[in-house]
Amino acid sequence: MTQPRLAAVVVLAAGEGKRMRSATPKVLHRVAGRTLVDHILAAVASLGAEKQLVVVGHEREQVIAALAGRVPEVTPVVQASQRGTGHAVRTALSAAGGIHPDDLVVVVPGDTPLLTGATMSALVAAHAHEPAAATVLTARVPDPLGYGRVLRDPSGRIRAIVEQADADAAAAAVREINTGVYVFTAGPLLAALSSLTVDNAQGEEYLTDVVGAFFDGGQAVRAYPLDDPGEAAGVNDRLQLAAAAAAMRDRLVTAAMRAGVTVLDPTTTWIDADVTVEADVTLLPNTFLHGSTQVAAGAVIGPDCTLTDTLVGTAATVSRTTAVGTVIGPDASVGPYTHLRQGTRVGRGVKLGAFVETKAAEIADGAKVPHLAYVGDAVIGARSNIGCGTIVANYDGVAKHRTVIGADVKIGSDTVLVAPVNVGDGAYTGAGSIVTEDVLPGALAVREGRQRTIEGWVELRRPGTAAARAAAAARGYVEQARGDGDPDRADHVGHAGPAPATVVGISDNGRRT
Ligand code: UD1
Ligand code: CA
Repeated sequence: MTQPRLAAVVVLAAGEGKRMRSATPKVLHRVAGRTLVDHILAAVASLGAEKQLVVVGHEREQVIAALAGRVPEVTPVVQASQRGTGHAVRTALSAAGGIHPDDLVVVVPGDTPLLTGATMSALVAAHAHEPAAATVLTARVPDPLGYGRVLRDPSGRIRAIVEQADADAAAAAVREINTGVYVFTAGPLLAALSSLTVDNAQGEEYLTDVVGAFFDGGQAVRAYPLDDPGEAAGVNDRLQLAAAAAAMRDRLVTAAMRAGVTVLDPTTTWIDADVTVEADVTLLPNTFLHGSTQVAAGAVIGPDCTLTDTLVGTAATVSRTTAVGTVIGPDASVGPYTHLRQGTRVGRGVKLGAFVETKAAEIADGAKVPHLAYVGDAVIGARSNIGCGTIVANYDGVAKHRTVIGADVKIGSDTVLVAPVNVGDGAYTGAGSIVTEDVLPGALAVREGRQRTIEGWVELRRPGTAAARAAAAARGYVEQARGDGDPDRADHVGHAGPAPATVVGISDNGRRT
């Protein structure tokens, strides 16, 4: 028997999705990083249909824009007013043209993101194996509310689908539902579509009515029940969106664990559909891996990480970090409390510590930015150490400028590097320096304003405060230790006088040096 040709997959995506209460068309809401319509297109892609038609209507410019550039190619068909699922399929097939009566047509709703490619292939195979006017994918669910119910005749043959709004008590009690997924033989489908009426509770042309028409006309209709009824879950409101997202999370996290990923807390670990996580990665709680993120073997991610479009190298550790568009090298250590923004590239064995923010920064192998720093539009050479509190001042209020720090550099704590500026290999900067001019290799850049210490200032200018009392007590101790202590504190304070601006160093133990 020659296989019938699968002429078209029709994805129904024209509805507004009123129950979402959203400015975004329903099919563009996202689950696991993909839009609802992307999920269903991924599930039908492997069927290899001649045409993939997406019926668009409500907010169609947005939907059409979201479909642009897909592989395999998708053809949008405009259904100007949403007159029902039957009208939508009729519109799609007449726009497509060139369909032979023996061809197959698959119809799927745009709002069932959990359907799998395996189910779609099995459904098409079942239809081809036992030809019929239609094979309907059905599911037995505990709560059928809102779905079309599958009615069978006494011999078990499917005889009609009744919508929730049109269901009497007996129909409403049926737990077998229509998933909205069908394989049709084109000839009978086109005939039945042309005689649909709007004689129902919603005043729409129901696609589901073709099933009753086939039965009444003596044409075979088959039900193909889903193994996992969860795949049928439609998204009509925000609660169902959250339920679909949770189901997809369970599916993706389960697949990751089966592939060798350790997941400490599956319910707080979210992996987008297009993320890859290699075996022997450990994912700790509250980890979100979004977009095109890839995590290589041996890496430990989490807790509390959100990584978007980020590549993590082998055996890197990343904790309490937000990263977007970043490459993290092998054996790197990032976090906690690190923010890596677009265009950050972190080499092998790099350490980025707490309260470090980077943007468009290339940080070469073995470099360290261990604490409290901003590194924007900058290059840091291999093995360089960036002291605590360093700021790369990349923005002059009008434009962003670049900073290039060489290899084996030591940037002192609290340095401000005012871009554009270069620091040569092996150079140092002193703590608290503001670097506005290039530093040659091996040079030390310092800004020395010599420290001024005004003795007795606190007791004179802040008398009666805790600081003054502490100072007085300490000075007594210091001066007794020196053997020249003045027992009369008030007198001593008087001696401090109005700022004899002596500059003295004070050693760690409080002695003058
Ligand atoms: C539909 C089925 C129901 C099934 C359920 C499965 C009908 C009449 N009912 O109900 O039996 O149990 O799906 O999820 O088919 N759409 C258009 N053009 C229109 C109307 C709808 O493109 O004129 C699209 C919607 O955007 C949506 C899909 O068709 O993606 C289904 O429409 P929706 O209103 O969600 O139908 P349900 O009430 O869920
Ligand atoms: Ca629906």
